Amino acid sequence: MPYYVILTIHLLCAFVFVGTVFFEVLVMHAVRRKVPPDVFAAIERAIGDRTRRLMPWVLALLYAAGIALAWQYRALLAHPLDSAPGTLLCIKIALAISVFGHFLCAMRLRRRGRLRGRTSRCLHLSVFAHVVVIVLLAKALFHVGW
Ligand code: HEM
Repeated sequence: MPYYVILTIHLLCAFVFVGTVFFEVLVMHAVRRKVPPDVFAAIERAIGDRTRRLMPWVLALLYAAGIALAWQYRALLAHPLDSAPGTLLCIKIALAISVFGHFLCAMRLRRRGRLRGRTSRCLHLSVFAHVVVIVLLAKALFHVGW
């Protein structure tokens, strides 16, 4: 498959995933204060059901495309400290792995019925911070040097 097709798939999946995280953090948390708790719980459940069905596919495609892209830079990644793009890409991948860890952690907490309140908010904020840095690193990759 041509590189630009894989890059486009990666970018499309990234904006679906990052958009969902932004929506959860910047919209849902503010809406919570303006809607009665039972109404909000119903909305949250409906959105949660939809994202739980959609997100595993989006993440699978995002990470598969990411690995295919990274394969082209395997020489850079073999010595990440030797070049700016190598270092930045390595940090970006490490953060993406950490995001996946958050996702697994959220699934486990949800199964145990513990993905609520403060825990859920902390997890969302942490993923939010991760994806902001990931996108900044992705765009700095070939434009920042030292
Ligand atoms: C949370 C997960 C991830 C997000 C949100 C994300 C986001 C992005 C974004 C926005 C770009 C820029 C695309 C463009 O400018 O067209 C990018 C590029 C890239 N990503 Fe990811 N990514 C993620 C995971 C991964 C993973 C797991 C890998 C590899 C193992 C990876 C490897 C790459 C590579 C190599 C590029 C550079 C492609 C290029 O510009 O030629 N990404 N990523």
